[in-house]
Amino acid sequence: MLEQEHTSVASVERKRIDWDKIIEWDRDYCFHIEKALSEWLPIPIAKCDGAYVIDANGNKLLDFLSGLISVNAGQRNPQIVEAIKDSLENYGYLWEFFTTPYKSEAAKIIVKDILGADSWAGRVHFVGSGSEANEEALQIAKLYTNRPYVITREYSYHGWTQGAGACTRVRYWRGSLSSPNSSEYRPVPGFPADGYFAAPAPFCYRCPYGYKGPEQCQVNGIVACLNELEHIILTLGPENVAAVITELVCGGSLIVSPIEWVRGLRVLTKKYGILLIDDEVMSGFGRTGKWFCYQHYGITPDIMTTAKGIVSSHLPAAGVVVSREIANFFDKYRWWHAVTFSSHPVSMAAVVANLQFMMDVDLPKRAEKSGLYLEKRLRELSPSHKSVGHVSGMGLFWGIEIVRNRETHEPFIKEDRDVTGAGDISKWPITVVQQRALEKGVLMGGLVPNCLRLGPALTVTEEEIDRAIDALDYALRPLDAECV
Ligand SMILES: Cc1ncc(COP(=O)(O)O)c(C=O)c1O
Repeated sequence: MLEQEHTSVASVERKRIDWDKIIEWDRDYCFHIEKALSEWLPIPIAKCDGAYVIDANGNKLLDFLSGLISVNAGQRNPQIVEAIKDSLENYGYLWEFFTTPYKSEAAKIIVKDILGADSWAGRVHFVGSGSEANEEALQIAKLYTNRPYVITREYSYHGWTQGAGACTRVRYWRGSLSSPNSSEYRPVPGFPADGYFAAPAPFCYRCPYGYKGPEQCQVNGIVACLNELEHIILTLGPENVAAVITELVCGGSLIVSPIEWVRGLRVLTKKYGILLIDDEVMSGFGRTGKWFCYQHYGITPDIMTTAKGIVSSHLPAAGVVVSREIANFFDKYRWWHAVTFSSHPVSMAAVVANLQFMMDVDLPKRAEKSGLYLEKRLRELSPSHKSVGHVSGMGLFWGIEIVRNRETHEPFIKEDRDVTGAGDISKWPITVVQQRALEKGVLMGGLVPNCLRLGPALTVTEEEIDRAIDALDYALRPLDAECV
């Protein structure tokens, strides 16, 4: 029987954990994701610590994905842990109708201290998750504009709920079922919901029009995929389009938007009075080396959704930031809307402590610096691996396009970002890399079959980056051997 000492956060309470029982209960009573029961393999974790998770056998795994690219300030950050404990001295649950020091301060830090210099943000409303934040942003956009339709972009991930899920365009990651033993694939019927339309992604590495980059594809100063977006707007009727929602760096499918596309998008949305919803659930709070990804592009959004890094995933919390114009509009009305877990005092205490920590150590700057080191190491590694087709990213948010042929960009899995997730996925590049990196004690992986993503805690050290690069060097070898 696998048994081990478990030390609590305060290192005072010790108890024996019967891991066999824990695994049995997980297998028998938990609803599993990503794997059918026949292929399910438990990964029992005993502790989280900084950039690491420690398994039940005491193996210290370097988490180069920081959870779901979400533990920006590192696991069990002491400032956040203390704040959570302190808040419980006085607060339990209160709903958002009440004013608490934590909620007020969290909002002030985000709107004034962090975003104030960009002069656009008016108010923030707190919710519990990224999907919920996007769901709410869509509703706000529709109410404000009084228009019904939303345009998203191909290969983006915005969550799984009805509206946010309709905006998610990595089709197999929309709650679908895929069989491990056959090609059977079952998308959620009726999904994506009506009223949501997709524009092409500015995916220059695999440009659907065959261009080699934004310099090549402009007509009257507008890139080809934005011309397509304008066409969609015009056929729907601009008077019907409430918002365009997008990630600027796609967190799931790792597509970094070119500046020409982002700037052109902002011009286009303003031209038609359409709101721009910037989903910074993954890219926000220092991940890309600035507080928010939009700041790399010299634009500002109308609505920005955040989650994950807002609290470094210590507790559930998310926030929707709206522009001053939208805030002024809502100020005139009663908004009949309540979210049970909005502004939970304990979550808000964690948000305040997390943001205070980020400001104290200038975590975005630190991510920028470590990101440059990670980029250097990735670019040094690439030439010696035939399977590395394209390396892209910013800050501590990187993607590697793994290819069978570097010249032609031929992917290993030909359906690429349009896969169903059915059948044997053991040969998927991300599966191979994930398993081999794990042999070296490093967690990495991806969401789409040919694209590896890297996103460690923003507190990661250069030594830890070196360790991850060594693991990657080892993990890529069998794929190199299959390259043509
Ligand atoms: C860009 C983006 N938006 C939305 C979401 C959904 O967030 P959640 O899983 O908290 O609902 C995610 C989750 O990974 C995300 O990466």
